[in-house]
Amino acid sequence: MALAQKPSQLTAHPYTDADIGRTELMPTHRLDLRPDGPDVFYDAEPVSDWRELTWEKIGRPYRVERWSNEKKAWEKEHGQEMPVKTAWQHFNRNFQALFDASALEARKQTLGDMGVALKGLDLAEALDEAAEVARWSLWNKIHRIEDAVWDPRGKRALFQGLDVEKPNILFLGAADGYEAMQLMAMYPGGHAVLVDYDEYCVEGRFGAFPDSYPFLGYDPATGSHKVYYRDQMDIDYEVSDIRDLKYGKEFDIVVSIGLLEHFPDEYKPLALDMHRRFLKPGGYVIMTTPRVQATSKLFYTLFADIMNFAYRELMDVTHLGLYAHENGFEILRHGRIKAHNGVVARVR
Ligand SMILES: C[S@@+](CC[C@H](N)C(=O)[O-])C[C@H]1O[C@@H](n2cnc3c(N)ncnc32)[C@H](O)[C@@H]1O
Repeated sequence: MALAQKPSQLTAHPYTDADIGRTELMPTHRLDLRPDGPDVFYDAEPVSDWRELTWEKIGRPYRVERWSNEKKAWEKEHGQEMPVKTAWQHFNRNFQALFDASALEARKQTLGDMGVALKGLDLAEALDEAAEVARWSLWNKIHRIEDAVWDPRGKRALFQGLDVEKPNILFLGAADGYEAMQLMAMYPGGHAVLVDYDEYCVEGRFGAFPDSYPFLGYDPATGSHKVYYRDQMDIDYEVSDIRDLKYGKEFDIVVSIGLLEHFPDEYKPLALDMHRRFLKPGGYVIMTTPRVQATSKLFYTLFADIMNFAYRELMDVTHLGLYAHENGFEILRHGRIKAHNGVVARVR
Protein backbone atom coordinates (compact mmCIF):
# COMPACT_ATOMS: atom_id res chain seq x y z
CA MET A 1 0.00 0.00 0.00
CA ALA A 2 1.60 3.26 -1.09
CA LEU A 3 1.16 6.09 1.36
CA ALA A 4 0.23 9.30 -0.41
CA GLN A 5 3.08 11.68 0.31
CA LYS A 6 2.37 15.38 0.54
CA PRO A 7 4.00 17.31 -2.34
CA SER A 8 7.23 18.70 -0.92
CA GLN A 9 6.35 22.33 -1.68
CA LEU A 10 3.42 22.02 0.76
CA THR A 11 5.51 20.74 3.65
CA ALA A 12 7.99 22.45 5.90
CA HIS A 13 11.69 21.94 5.22
CA PRO A 14 13.06 24.31 7.85
CA TYR A 15 16.68 23.12 7.83
CA THR A 16 19.13 23.27 4.97
CA ASP A 17 22.66 22.03 4.44
CA ALA A 18 23.78 25.26 6.13
CA ASP A 19 22.42 23.81 9.40
CA ILE A 20 24.69 20.76 9.34
CA GLY A 21 26.49 20.64 12.69
CA ARG A 22 23.48 21.94 14.58
CA THR A 23 21.44 20.25 17.31
CA GLU A 24 18.26 21.73 18.79
CA LEU A 25 15.71 20.78 21.43
CA MET A 26 12.14 20.93 20.14
CA PRO A 27 9.11 20.51 22.48
CA THR A 28 8.63 16.88 21.41
CA HIS A 29 12.08 15.73 20.30
CA ARG A 30 15.65 16.67 19.51
CA LEU A 31 16.93 17.38 16.05
CA ASP A 32 20.54 16.51 15.50
CA LEU A 33 22.52 17.38 12.40
CA ARG A 34 25.93 16.85 14.02
CA PRO A 35 27.91 14.68 11.63
CA ASP A 36 30.13 13.09 14.22
CA GLY A 37 30.56 12.90 17.95
CA PRO A 38 31.36 10.64 20.84
CA ASP A 39 28.08 8.73 21.11
CA VAL A 40 28.51 6.36 18.20
CA PHE A 41 28.37 2.63 17.54
CA TYR A 42 31.35 1.02 19.14
CA ASP A 43 32.66 -2.47 19.31
CA ALA A 44 31.64 -3.48 22.80
CA GLU A 45 33.16 -6.70 24.08
CA PRO A 46 34.56 -7.53 20.66
CA VAL A 47 33.95 -11.13 19.70
CA SER A 48 36.57 -12.30 17.23
CA ASP A 49 35.21 -15.79 16.73
CA TRP A 50 31.48 -16.31 17.22
CA ARG A 51 31.95 -20.09 17.03
CA GLU A 52 33.62 -19.98 20.45
CA LEU A 53 30.70 -18.28 22.19
CA THR A 54 28.14 -20.52 23.92
CA TRP A 55 24.87 -19.94 25.81
CA GLU A 56 26.52 -21.54 28.86
CA LYS A 57 29.15 -18.78 28.80
CA ILE A 58 26.83 -15.80 28.33
CA GLY A 59 23.50 -16.96 29.84
CA ARG A 60 20.11 -16.15 28.34
CA PRO A 61 18.61 -12.68 27.86
CA TYR A 62 16.71 -10.95 30.69
CA ARG A 63 12.91 -11.21 30.40
CA VAL A 64 10.69 -8.22 31.18
CA GLU A 65 7.73 -9.68 33.01
CA ARG A 66 6.00 -6.73 34.62
CA TRP A 67 2.80 -6.44 32.57
CA SER A 68 0.60 -3.49 31.76
CA ASN A 69 -2.58 -3.17 33.84
CA GLU A 70 -4.43 -2.58 30.55
CA LYS A 71 -3.28 -6.05 29.37
CA LYS A 72 -4.31 -7.66 32.66
CA ALA A 73 -7.76 -5.99 32.54
CA TRP A 74 -8.23 -7.07 28.88
CA GLU A 75 -7.34 -10.67 29.78
CA LYS A 76 -9.74 -10.68 32.73
CA GLU A 77 -12.56 -9.29 30.59
CA HIS A 78 -11.95 -11.70 27.68
CA GLY A 79 -10.95 -14.74 29.75
CA GLN A 80 -7.91 -15.42 27.57
CA GLU A 81 -4.32 -14.29 27.08
CA MET A 82 -4.07 -11.14 24.95
CA PRO A 83 -3.19 -12.18 21.36
CA VAL A 84 0.20 -10.89 20.23
CA LYS A 85 -1.19 -8.67 17.46
CA THR A 86 -3.69 -7.09 19.89
CA ALA A 87 -0.76 -6.49 22.24
CA TRP A 88 1.01 -4.51 19.51
CA GLN A 89 -2.10 -2.51 18.74
CA HIS A 90 -2.20 -1.38 22.38
CA PHE A 91 1.56 -0.74 22.45
CA ASN A 92 1.62 1.39 19.30
CA ARG A 93 -1.16 3.74 20.40
CA ASN A 94 0.37 4.20 23.85
CA PHE A 95 3.93 4.63 22.60
CA GLN A 96 2.91 7.16 19.93
CA ALA A 97 1.13 9.25 22.60
CA LEU A 98 4.55 9.76 24.19
CA PHE A 99 6.09 10.96 20.91
CA ASP A 100 3.16 13.32 20.30
CA ALA A 101 3.37 15.04 23.69
CA SER A 102 5.48 17.93 24.80
CA ALA A 103 7.12 16.19 27.79
CA LEU A 104 7.69 19.36 29.82
CA GLU A 105 4.14 20.66 29.26
CA ALA A 106 2.74 17.24 30.20
CA ARG A 107 4.87 17.13 33.35
CA LYS A 108 3.70 20.64 34.36
CA GLN A 109 0.08 19.66 33.84
CA THR A 110 0.55 16.45 35.87
CA LEU A 111 2.25 18.35 38.70
CA GLY A 112 -0.83 20.62 38.80
CA ASP A 113 -3.13 17.57 38.96
CA MET A 114 -1.01 16.13 41.76
CA GLY A 115 -1.38 19.38 43.73
CA VAL A 116 -5.16 19.24 43.34
CA ALA A 117 -5.21 15.60 44.52
CA LEU A 118 -3.05 16.44 47.55
CA LYS A 119 -5.25 19.40 48.48
CA GLY A 120 -8.28 17.10 48.32
CA LEU A 121 -6.38 14.55 50.46
CA ASP A 122 -6.83 11.99 47.68
CA LEU A 123 -3.57 10.18 48.39
CA ALA A 124 -4.13 7.32 45.95
CA GLU A 125 -4.68 9.80 43.09
CA ALA A 126 -1.68 11.88 44.23
CA LEU A 127 0.52 8.76 44.11
CA ASP A 128 -0.68 7.93 40.59
CA GLU A 129 0.10 11.50 39.51
CA ALA A 130 3.55 11.27 41.15
CA ALA A 131 4.30 8.17 39.07
CA GLU A 132 3.11 10.06 35.98
CA VAL A 133 5.44 12.97 36.83
CA ALA A 134 8.33 10.49 37.09
CA ARG A 135 7.39 9.03 33.68
CA TRP A 136 7.35 12.42 31.96
CA SER A 137 10.68 13.32 33.58
CA LEU A 138 12.27 10.09 32.35
CA TRP A 139 10.73 10.38 28.87
CA ASN A 140 12.02 13.97 28.62
CA LYS A 141 15.51 12.77 29.58
CA ILE A 142 15.63 9.62 27.45
CA HIS A 143 13.87 10.72 24.26
CA ARG A 144 14.31 14.50 24.20
CA ILE A 145 17.52 15.36 26.01
CA GLU A 146 19.57 12.22 25.27
CA ASP A 147 17.73 11.24 22.07
CA ALA A 148 18.30 7.59 22.99
CA VAL A 149 15.17 6.25 21.24
CA TRP A 150 15.69 7.57 17.71
CA ASP A 151 19.44 7.96 18.39
CA PRO A 152 20.33 9.40 14.96
CA ARG A 153 24.05 9.56 15.68
CA GLY A 154 24.20 5.97 16.92
CA LYS A 155 22.07 4.75 14.00
CA ARG A 156 24.20 6.65 11.48
CA ALA A 157 27.30 5.03 12.95
CA LEU A 158 25.64 1.61 12.82
CA PHE A 159 24.52 2.08 9.20
CA GLN A 160 27.85 3.51 8.01
CA GLY A 161 29.99 1.84 5.36
CA LEU A 162 27.49 -0.40 3.53
CA ASP A 163 28.46 -1.24 -0.03
CA VAL A 164 25.10 -0.29 -1.61
CA GLU A 165 23.81 2.24 -4.12
CA LYS A 166 20.15 3.28 -4.32
CA PRO A 167 19.27 0.30 -2.12
CA ASN A 168 15.96 -1.49 -1.95
CA ILE A 169 15.22 -1.66 1.80
CA LEU A 170 12.78 -3.90 3.70
CA PHE A 171 11.91 -2.79 7.25
CA LEU A 172 10.27 -5.56 9.32
CA GLY A 173 8.02 -4.33 12.17
CA ALA A 174 8.50 -0.75 10.96
CA ALA A 175 6.14 1.16 13.31
CA ASP A 176 7.13 4.83 12.63
CA GLY A 177 9.72 3.84 10.00
CA TYR A 178 12.45 6.04 11.48
CA GLU A 179 15.44 3.83 10.68
CA ALA A 180 14.44 3.27 7.03
CA MET A 181 14.37 7.05 6.61
CA GLN A 182 17.80 7.40 8.21
CA LEU A 183 19.14 4.69 5.87
CA MET A 184 17.57 6.37 2.84
CA ALA A 185 19.22 9.68 3.71
CA MET A 186 22.61 7.96 3.93
CA TYR A 187 22.09 5.88 0.77
CA PRO A 188 19.75 8.11 -1.28
CA GLY A 189 17.82 7.37 -4.44
CA GLY A 190 16.58 3.94 -3.35
CA HIS A 191 13.24 2.60 -2.25
CA ALA A 192 11.91 1.26 1.06
CA VAL A 193 9.07 -1.04 2.01
CA LEU A 194 7.89 -0.61 5.59
CA VAL A 195 5.99 -3.62 6.95
CA ASP A 196 3.87 -3.69 10.08
CA TYR A 197 0.73 -5.68 10.81
CA ASP A 198 -0.79 -2.94 12.94
CA GLU A 199 -2.68 -0.81 10.40
CA TYR A 200 -2.71 2.11 12.84
CA CYS A 201 1.04 2.58 12.19
CA VAL A 202 0.49 3.76 8.60
CA GLU A 203 -1.16 7.04 9.60
CA GLY A 204 -0.86 6.95 13.39
CA ARG A 205 2.91 6.37 13.61
CA PHE A 206 4.63 6.79 10.20
CA GLY A 207 2.03 9.35 9.10
CA ALA A 208 2.40 11.24 12.39
CA PHE A 209 6.18 11.44 12.11
CA PRO A 210 7.12 15.14 11.78
CA ASP A 211 7.49 16.23 8.12
CA SER A 212 9.95 18.85 9.25
CA TYR A 213 12.41 16.39 10.86
CA PRO A 214 15.77 16.65 9.09
CA PHE A 215 17.71 13.44 8.36
CA LEU A 216 21.43 13.84 7.90
CA GLY A 217 22.77 11.86 4.97
CA TYR A 218 24.98 12.22 1.94
CA ASP A 219 24.85 13.77 -1.49
CA PRO A 220 26.05 10.94 -3.76
CA ALA A 221 27.26 13.44 -6.37
CA THR A 222 29.74 15.13 -4.00
CA GLY A 223 30.06 12.73 -1.05
CA SER A 224 29.30 15.69 1.24
CA HIS A 225 26.67 15.68 3.96
CA LYS A 226 23.17 16.63 2.92
CA VAL A 227 19.82 17.12 4.69
CA TYR A 228 16.80 15.05 3.59
CA TYR A 229 13.13 14.98 4.57
CA ARG A 230 10.61 12.17 4.66
CA ASP A 231 8.59 13.45 1.70
CA GLN A 232 11.69 13.30 -0.52
CA MET A 233 11.93 9.54 -0.02
CA ASP A 234 10.32 6.74 -2.02
CA ILE A 235 8.51 4.74 0.67
CA ASP A 236 5.70 2.18 0.54
CA TYR A 237 3.94 0.96 3.66
CA GLU A 238 2.62 -2.60 3.65
CA VAL A 239 0.18 -3.72 6.34
CA SER A 240 1.01 -7.40 6.71
CA ASP A 241 2.26 -10.03 9.07
CA ILE A 242 5.95 -10.44 8.23
CA ARG A 243 5.30 -14.19 8.02
CA ASP A 244 2.90 -13.63 5.10
CA LEU A 245 5.25 -11.60 2.89
CA LYS A 246 5.65 -12.86 -0.68
CA TYR A 247 8.70 -11.05 -2.04
CA GLY A 248 11.50 -12.52 -4.08
CA LYS A 249 15.17 -12.10 -3.20
CA GLU A 250 15.01 -8.40 -4.05
CA PHE A 251 16.23 -6.39 -1.06
CA ASP A 252 19.73 -4.99 -0.53
CA ILE A 253 19.05 -4.35 3.15
CA VAL A 254 16.60 -5.99 5.54
CA VAL A 255 16.34 -4.13 8.83
CA SER A 256 14.49 -4.62 12.11
CA ILE A 257 14.67 -2.42 15.19
CA GLY A 258 13.40 -3.95 18.40
CA LEU A 259 11.73 -7.01 16.85
CA LEU A 260 13.80 -10.14 17.54
CA GLU A 261 13.54 -9.77 21.33
CA HIS A 262 9.78 -10.25 21.08
CA PHE A 263 10.13 -13.81 19.77
CA PRO A 264 10.71 -16.48 22.45
CA ASP A 265 13.61 -18.80 21.60
CA GLU A 266 11.50 -21.43 19.85
CA TYR A 267 10.36 -18.78 17.31
CA LYS A 268 13.71 -17.03 16.81
CA PRO A 269 14.82 -19.26 13.89
CA LEU A 270 11.59 -18.32 12.06
CA ALA A 271 12.04 -14.61 12.85
CA LEU A 272 15.64 -14.71 11.62
CA ASP A 273 14.58 -16.59 8.50
CA MET A 274 12.20 -13.71 7.68
CA HIS A 275 15.27 -11.45 7.65
CA ARG A 276 17.09 -13.79 5.24
CA ARG A 277 14.30 -14.86 2.89
CA PHE A 278 13.98 -11.69 0.77
CA LEU A 279 17.66 -10.65 0.69
CA LYS A 280 19.59 -10.37 -2.57
CA PRO A 281 22.74 -12.50 -2.54
CA GLY A 282 25.33 -10.53 -0.57
CA GLY A 283 22.65 -8.26 0.95
CA TYR A 284 22.85 -6.89 4.49
CA VAL A 285 20.76 -7.67 7.55
CA ILE A 286 20.75 -5.01 10.25
CA MET A 287 19.12 -5.80 13.58
CA THR A 288 18.97 -4.00 16.89
CA THR A 289 17.49 -5.07 20.24
CA PRO A 290 17.24 -3.17 23.55
CA ARG A 291 20.24 -3.46 25.85
CA VAL A 292 20.14 -5.11 29.21
CA GLN A 293 21.22 -2.19 31.39
CA ALA A 294 19.94 -0.40 34.50
CA THR A 295 18.28 2.46 32.54
CA SER A 296 16.37 0.01 30.33
CA LYS A 297 15.16 -1.99 33.35
CA LEU A 298 14.03 1.25 35.02
CA PHE A 299 12.30 2.35 31.81
CA TYR A 300 10.32 -0.88 31.35
CA THR A 301 9.37 -0.84 35.06
CA LEU A 302 8.17 2.77 35.15
CA PHE A 303 6.53 2.49 31.71
CA ALA A 304 5.08 -1.00 32.26
CA ASP A 305 1.49 0.22 31.91
CA ILE A 306 2.24 1.92 28.61
CA MET A 307 4.68 -0.52 26.98
CA ASN A 308 4.49 -4.04 28.38
CA PHE A 309 1.88 -5.96 26.40
CA ALA A 310 4.01 -8.51 24.56
CA TYR A 311 6.90 -10.86 25.36
CA ARG A 312 10.14 -8.84 25.62
CA GLU A 313 13.78 -9.61 26.34
CA LEU A 314 16.65 -7.26 27.12
CA MET A 315 19.91 -8.48 25.59
CA ASP A 316 23.61 -7.95 25.53
CA VAL A 317 25.22 -7.60 22.12
CA THR A 318 26.67 -11.09 22.55
CA HIS A 319 23.11 -12.52 22.81
CA LEU A 320 22.00 -10.76 19.64
CA GLY A 321 25.17 -11.83 17.83
CA LEU A 322 24.93 -15.44 18.94
CA TYR A 323 21.28 -15.70 17.80
CA ALA A 324 22.35 -14.37 14.40
CA HIS A 325 25.45 -16.57 14.20
CA GLU A 326 23.72 -19.82 15.15
CA ASN A 327 20.99 -19.10 12.60
CA GLY A 328 23.40 -18.87 9.69
CA PHE A 329 24.55 -15.25 9.56
CA GLU A 330 28.09 -13.94 9.26
CA ILE A 331 28.47 -11.00 11.62
CA LEU A 332 30.27 -8.14 9.92
CA ARG A 333 29.98 -5.62 12.73
CA HIS A 334 28.53 -5.70 16.22
CA GLY A 335 28.28 -3.18 19.01
CA ARG A 336 26.10 -0.94 21.11
CA ILE A 337 24.35 2.34 20.54
CA LYS A 338 22.58 4.31 23.25
CA ALA A 339 19.69 2.05 24.15
CA HIS A 340 20.17 -0.86 21.74
CA ASN A 341 22.67 -3.49 20.60
CA GLY A 342 23.28 -3.66 16.89
CA VAL A 343 24.62 -6.14 14.36
CA VAL A 344 25.28 -5.84 10.67
CA ALA A 345 25.35 -9.30 9.09
CA ARG A 346 25.27 -11.28 5.87
CA VAL A 347 24.02 -14.76 5.11
CA ARG A 348 26.92 -17.22 5.63
C1 LIG B 1 8.75 -2.85 19.35
S1 LIG B 1 8.05 -2.28 17.87
C2 LIG B 1 9.46 -1.69 17.09
C3 LIG B 1 9.97 -0.51 17.78
C4 LIG B 1 9.76 0.68 16.94
N1 LIG B 1 11.04 1.17 16.50
C5 LIG B 1 8.94 1.69 17.66
O1 LIG B 1 9.24 2.88 17.60
O2 LIG B 1 7.96 1.30 18.29
C6 LIG B 1 7.70 -3.66 16.94
C7 LIG B 1 6.72 -3.42 15.77
O3 LIG B 1 6.65 -4.64 15.05
C8 LIG B 1 5.32 -4.92 14.71
N2 LIG B 1 5.22 -6.38 14.61
C9 LIG B 1 5.43 -7.30 15.58
N3 LIG B 1 5.27 -8.55 15.11
C10 LIG B 1 4.96 -8.43 13.79
C11 LIG B 1 4.65 -9.36 12.76
N4 LIG B 1 4.63 -10.68 12.98
N5 LIG B 1 4.38 -8.87 11.54
C12 LIG B 1 4.36 -7.54 11.29
N6 LIG B 1 4.63 -6.60 12.24
C13 LIG B 1 4.92 -7.05 13.47
C14 LIG B 1 4.48 -4.31 15.82
O4 LIG B 1 3.17 -4.00 15.38
C15 LIG B 1 5.30 -3.07 16.20
O5 LIG B 1 4.86 -1.93 15.51
